[in-house]
Amino acid sequence: MSYLNYKSLTGLLLAVYLVYCAQLYFVTSDNSHIPGVSLSDTGLKGREVWAKYNCQSCHQLFKLGGYLGPELTNIFDQHGKSEGYVLAFILNGSQGMPALGVSESEAQQLAVYLKEVGMADNAARRNLRSDEKE
Ligand code: HEC
Repeated sequence: MSYLNYKSLTGLLLAVYLVYCAQLYFVTSDNSHIPGVSLSDTGLKGREVWAKYNCQSCHQLFKLGGYLGPELTNIFDQHGKSEGYVLAFILNGSQGMPALGVSESEAQQLAVYLKEVGMADNAARRNLRSDEKE
């Protein structure tokens, strides 16, 4: 088994790691892994704002993210959760959510992003939140 020596094994591991890194980069830098999400220019800006304030650390989209706050994929499909409601949370926080210093225009972009995420094929068909009925 001379072909499986230390050097080639290291090379193989390095190659696997590089492919993994490349895959991680592409998966986190576009939406193509989420079927049916196409973001407008404003939606794309909203996604950057989402990353800038690390909303994902407390909220989930498509079930991925932190669990301190609720899943937000279907926020706009929920009864009584209008744009005004969503903007109020983003701009002022609440008892449970800290105010993060998001500007008016950033908040608008976030709202557009969340709307477009909610229109994705696999989001529109079912409510991803387990705590509320459709
Ligand atoms: C430190 C954790 C934390 C961060 C960071 C955070 N949130 Fe929240 N958020 C919460 C919690 C907790 C709630 C529920 C609070 C409540 O109901 O009073 C919440 C509620 C919300 C709601 C209302 C959800 C509903 O169904 O009523 C929206 C919208 C929201 N957050 C958007 C955002 C956005 C956008 C960001 C990023 C700019 C963000 N949050 C960042 C913790 C966080």
